[in-house]
Amino acid sequence: MNRKLTIGISTGGGDCPGLNAVIRGATRAAILRHGWRVLGIADGFDGLIFPERTIELTLNNVSGILPRGGTILGTTNRGNPFHYVFPDGEKESDISPRILENARALGIDAIIVIGGDGTQAIALELHRKGLNVVGVPKTIDNDLLATDVTFGFDTALHTVTDAVDKIHTTAESHHRIMLVEVMGRSAGWIALEAGIAGGAHVILLPEIPFSVQKVCEFVEQRERAGKRFTIIVVAEGIQVPADMEQALANERRRSQRYGKANVVGEAISLVSRREVRVTVLGHIQRGGSPSPFDRILGTRFGVAAVDVIARGDFGKMVTLRGSHIGAVPIAEACRGVRLVDPEGELVHTARSIGISFGD
Ligand code: F6P
Repeated sequence: MNRKLTIGISTGGGDCPGLNAVIRGATRAAILRHGWRVLGIADGFDGLIFPERTIELTLNNVSGILPRGGTILGTTNRGNPFHYVFPDGEKESDISPRILENARALGIDAIIVIGGDGTQAIALELHRKGLNVVGVPKTIDNDLLATDVTFGFDTALHTVTDAVDKIHTTAESHHRIMLVEVMGRSAGWIALEAGIAGGAHVILLPEIPFSVQKVCEFVEQRERAGKRFTIIVVAEGIQVPADMEQALANERRRSQRYGKANVVGEAISLVSRREVRVTVLGHIQRGGSPSPFDRILGTRFGVAAVDVIARGDFGKMVTLRGSHIGAVPIAEACRGVRLVDPEGELVHTARSIGISFGD
């Protein structure tokens, strides 16, 4: 494709560090290599429902955004155009025709959609309806199929590891059992890798069923070895054992989400008769300046997405496999979620150095 194109860039789903690096990388490559026009679509696909929020991205307004967390374009993890609910509560199930029409009206030849599996699934449907789409995989959860790594994960790992390091000193001083709940949705990657990096003693994952009894036995074993504190990293997606479901239901009534570590912590305190404290890290994991790894990966993905558009190879998502940047059909990334393999090398490594999974 040699003619001067107009491309759109949109960021959808939960934000994460590195989004601005992709926006900057793609904008600079589109302008400097091809002389294309670049439009920033606001707030995920919402920006194609309300196109008046669109801005032109220039070398000037993407300048200085590389170290900034979040996304200058705004995002939303609601607003599926195939089941859209307007802000005033008015329902309109499928407004994709309006999206296609507005994209055409803006003169968009192709759009780079930066997002996780939910956003990529929507992008794929829009592609099937005629929009020229190229996907870029993002999420701190690192749970996308088809790519070894998503940008945002590395920065989140740094944040969580730093928190676990800090919890260590207070746990040790007070001789406490300390639980740290981390994000990851239904996958345990953040818990597993930050648990290993932060020297946790127990890691509870969605992929490995655990029991409070086993965790407490492990705590006792540590105490017999002279260790009077225990750090437990808990993935938000853990399957809470059946006998704790009522307690979980009560917790849900209190806090809606992210309460599982509170319930598990209470159970551990009751069974072990020891002092327990729980820290829920929450959205702090999605914030902050991207790590150098995420800045570089975001830039590589942004440039690769522009290369894919230049080849006219739509319906693809850029990927990192090994050290190679490539592109695969978006459908490949939407087949499911990449989970931790309980028999895999990382879990084996953790077990070999004495980390318990409570099983
Ligand atoms: O997918 C990213 C993520 O941060 C998950 O780890 C978490 O479960 C979810 O988003 C939180 O979403 P929200 O911002 O809607 O609370």
